[in-house]
Amino acid sequence: MASLDIDQVRSSFPALKSGYLFGDNAGGSQTLQSVIDRITDYLSNTNVQLGADYLVSVQSTQRVADGAVAAAQLFNAASSDEVAMGPSSTMLFENLARALENEIQAGDELIITGEHEANNGGWKRLAVRRGAIVKVWHATPTDPNNPYSVSLKVEELLPLISNKTRVIAFTACSNILGSVVPVEEIVKAARQHAKEQGVKKLEISVDCVAYGPHRRIDVQKWDIDYCVFAFYKLYGAHHSALYVRSPALKFSLTSLAHHFLQVDDKPYKVQPGGPGYELVYSATAVPAYLLSLTPANDLQASFDAIARHEQTLIKPLITFLTDPKQEAQGVRIVGQSKIDLSRVPTVSFVVVGPKSVKSKDIVAVFDKRGGIGIRYGHFYAYTLVSGLEPKLDAGDGVVRISFVHYNTVEEVEKVVEILEEILA
Ligand SMILES: Cc1ncc(COP(=O)(O)O)c(C=O)c1O
Repeated sequence: MASLDIDQVRSSFPALKSGYLFGDNAGGSQTLQSVIDRITDYLSNTNVQLGADYLVSVQSTQRVADGAVAAAQLFNAASSDEVAMGPSSTMLFENLARALENEIQAGDELIITGEHEANNGGWKRLAVRRGAIVKVWHATPTDPNNPYSVSLKVEELLPLISNKTRVIAFTACSNILGSVVPVEEIVKAARQHAKEQGVKKLEISVDCVAYGPHRRIDVQKWDIDYCVFAFYKLYGAHHSALYVRSPALKFSLTSLAHHFLQVDDKPYKVQPGGPGYELVYSATAVPAYLLSLTPANDLQASFDAIARHEQTLIKPLITFLTDPKQEAQGVRIVGQSKIDLSRVPTVSFVVVGPKSVKSKDIVAVFDKRGGIGIRYGHFYAYTLVSGLEPKLDAGDGVVRISFVHYNTVEEVEKVVEILEEILA
């Protein structure tokens, strides 16, 4: 099993040369030099409108098509004809919900979670427009000693499914809890249960924005209809990709494109207008980088190596936060404390009584010292954070420290040292 060459990894990201400790990677990762180079190259050499017959337009069209192929590779989609690109994940989910409008009837049921609002808001607004019903699959406590150790459980999802269920929308990895959801297992159980209830057509939408930087996405193996990830969290530029399974593209979606355009069964149905061409082209550098991480030249092998390295990053932080001394003074992980592959190095915590400390105040100490970026808040998983019991101030939310594969154990230990001083 190949391991990561961390010096090589770090040299691929120009921002890391400054020595700044990036600890807010779940908010957005740093960008590969190769991505930056392709943006410059596109804008310098092929920045024309697509689809014309002159040479530069032919080159430009090919480059943008290659970007969709790269996204398809990252989804493990059957074809780039199942990929739409857009400015943000939130926008793509909204487009998707709008394109599904004719499919949803009054009384239909849509199941969402309390996780990041991107895969919730569009469905809620669709339900209001169509008179459909929204049900929430809540994360519930796992550890009797910590009420904030919540996670999504399949046994809480199944009773929500009825013969009216039309869509299930959930998140493959929580941007707060850091927990990896067993997507394949959940989809299998949900489809089986829905079939038993008499559901004829169930569509499943998975938010992989927080999952994509850490694990291999596999829309085919998972048997899902819709999926979104963001390149700006996956070492690329600020834009996102949407997977739409081809039968859904054909039979479920109504086109959002101009009425005179022949979109047929193409992803333009959910991609009204052109995406940022230079950004789409820059996406080609992301799978190329990931494949270079191990000699196997295989994305699964690369993500296995990433996951192994990231496990070493989780350990010092969780070990510190769950130390009986920290627990006695009210430190509580929001999410699971188990250090295994069911979580990524996105670690959130709060400090509740007896020595209650605001999340904002902990982050302020880091900000004052400088050189390290971490953050507090609800990170748009507002329903999750505001629903925790005992109640937290959702505005103050949690302290979130999030690492990715380019971080080092030394960096994690530096963060832990500062936390030790704050909580001493
Ligand atoms: C799990 C998750 N989903 C969706 C989003 C939103 O992504 P975007 O900014 O591309 O809309 C985020 C951003 O933090 C996220 O963490």
